[in-house]
Formats: sequence, C-alpha cells, structure tokens
Amino acid sequence: MTPPDENQQSPSVPGPSEPAATADTLAPAAPAPPAPPEPPQPSLELRRALADVRTEVGKAVVGQDSAVTSLLIALLCSGHVLLEGVPGVAKTLLVRTLAASLDLDFKRVQFTPDLMPGDVTGSLVYDARTAEFSFRQGPVFTNLLLADEINRTPPKTQASLLESMEERQVSVDGEPRPLPAPFLVIATQNPVEHEGTYPLPEAQLDRFLLKVLLPLPERDAEVEVLARHAGGFDPRDLGAAGVRAVADPAVLAAARAEVRQVEVSPEVLGYAVDVCRATRQSPSLQLGVSPRGATALLATARAWAWLSGRMYVTPDDVKALAHPTLRHRVQLRPEAELEGVTAESVLGTVLAAVPVPR
Ligand SMILES: Nc1ncnc2c1ncn2[C@@H]1O[C@H](COP(=O)(O)OP(=O)(O)O)[C@@H](O)[C@H]1O
Ligand SMILES: [Mg+2]
Repeated sequence: MTPPDENQQSPSVPGPSEPAATADTLAPAAPAPPAPPEPPQPSLELRRALADVRTEVGKAVVGQDSAVTSLLIALLCSGHVLLEGVPGVAKTLLVRTLAASLDLDFKRVQFTPDLMPGDVTGSLVYDARTAEFSFRQGPVFTNLLLADEINRTPPKTQASLLESMEERQVSVDGEPRPLPAPFLVIATQNPVEHEGTYPLPEAQLDRFLLKVLLPLPERDAEVEVLARHAGGFDPRDLGAAGVRAVADPAVLAAARAEVRQVEVSPEVLGYAVDVCRATRQSPSLQLGVSPRGATALLATARAWAWLSGRMYVTPDDVKALAHPTLRHRVQLRPEAELEGVTAESVLGTVLAAVPVPR
C-alpha cells in the first residue's frame, strides 16, 4: 500500500505498482519458527475490505494512491482532512467515489463569499401550515462532507463548520442536534489562489487531522485519464464505471476499534513527542507543533501500522505520517519563508535530526 507521505517509500508494504491487494498480498509474512505466543494481527477480513475500497476508488480515480491512503487513515481515526490541490485534479471525484465505495452519505457544499452559517448547519424555518418553527437540517448532516474551497467563505461561516467538526453536533436555538456517525469533513483548498480568500487561522488548522496534497498527475496517469474518457467514462455516473459499495460504516467502526488496540511502546511514544518538540526549537518556525498535533501524529501512525498489517507502531510509521499530519500545524517565520524554507523542508530537517529509537 502506498504510504501517505508523498515523499516517502516504505519498504515494508507493497508499492503503488503492485497489483490490487488480494488475500495473498495482505497475508502476514510466515512467522519465523518457533514462534512464542502469536502476536495479535489486524483482522484480514477488515483489511481486505479496505483494500477493496481502494480498488473501487481506482475505477474512477487514476493514481493518487498516497491521497487515498491518507483518506483511509482519516476515516480510521475519525479525523477531518484538508485536501489541497489546484482545480481539476479530481478532488471531488476522489471524495465522491470514496463515499460510494464505503456506502456513506455524501454531501458537497461550495463555500462561496455569500454562504451563511445556516446554509451549512441548517436553520429554523417557519411552517405556515402548522404555524410553528421547525429545524431544517443543513448539509453538515451527512457522513462525508466535501467543503469545497473553504477559503472563499468569510470567517463566520468557516467558524460554524469548524464548530460542528469539533463538537459533532449543531446547536440551533439552544438545542443540540447530534451529527450522524461517522462524520468527516474534507475541506478543499486551492494552493495558488489567495486573492479575495480567507486563510484559516492557525488555531483552526490544528483541528484538521491531516493535510493531504493532491498533486498534478504524472504523464502516464494523465494519459490514462484521457483514455478512460475516450472510452466513455463519465465522472457523474460512478455506477456506470462499476463503482460499488464494498464496505460500510459497520466495517469502518470495526476497523477503528482494532486501530484503537494497536500498541505503542514507550520508546516510539517518546520518539513522536521528540519529533513534535523539535519543531518548537526550529529557528525557521515561529510556531511549532502543539500537543494536540502530537496526539494526532500518534493516532495516524497507529492507523498506518494497522493498514500495514501490524498491531504495533514503529518509528517508521511515525516518520511516514509526520508530513501529512504536521505540515499545517507549523508556522514559518517570515524571514525563513522569504529564504525559500517550507514546512516540508523544516519537517525533513527535524526528522533527520531527531534520534530514532532502535
Ligand atoms: N487522477 C484522475 N483520475 C481520474 N480522473 C481525473 C483525474 N484527474 C482529473 N480527472 C478528470 O478531471 C475531472 C475534474 O475532477 P474534479 O474532481 O472535478 O476536480 P477538482 O475537484 O480537483 O477540481 C474529473 O471528473 C476527471 O474527469
Ligand atoms: Mg472540485
């Protein structure tokens, strides 16, 4: 399975060019005899179901394997995602297909400059027939919400979405209304558009578990996209492309329960903390990773360990998740930014410097 970090290849798992995962490729390596008490293993059935989800997504979306892995990790951690990419790289298609293959309810909201908080959360409407106010649910009442171009809407509406994300409920007129479970927001950002936009404040960025980058495709992948279109692929008709629901919220919940059992040794825990603490010492940063960010790193590393077929976390799992989990939680000093330093380069330096437990 392709690691979530676009820059890193993990030798312990099949790479992107491997054929679709089968029972064979998912099977744990034969244990070295004589094995003392068998260590616990992730359920093969659950991992296979998630591998099937990847296959379904692949029927519509060409490539972008790292992003698919990251979205699966977010689902396994019940965490929200920032998805960054220029228009036309299949952000919408990816999220829609993921929802369809997991049998999740899906809604998309275009965040425009005139979008009001009530357009997201819902509002009280007057029913003339009954002469009463009743609550009309907004699009936030769904499993997978695609918050498209979140930076185009003013802070007030952004804040109402972020509040729903945090509390997993909507309070209108004093009455809390719980959101469905699972509830996951995938908010998209355009990396090159800054005119007339409202960047999310640092404190709110920290609420996203992962920041996933959707790059422009390689030439081969783009040729394949065109070939599919030439062959009649219609992105609006996923059913015709053969996309089916191969898993459901119950499978996700069961997988999530297993991820919560993934063990972390004190050494690995200390390593994750050291990586986060090192960002606070970096001369290029004015803001390092918060303890919330450190807990996020631990959570995503556990999910990745589980996806990789292990019930324990290694330092490599922490490394593999450091970029997507931490890149939006650090703030560069303006001087460093002018010198061309990036969040990615700082994280790379930190990972190279922090001693790895053996
Ligand atoms: N990697 C890809 N795989 C399949 N189709 C793609 C890919 N990248 C772009 N496309 C095509 O471009 C269209 C635009 O995708 P869309 O999901 O609307 O992009 P975005 O939401 O990023 O603006 C898709 O419907 C699809 O036809
Ligand atoms: Mg789109």
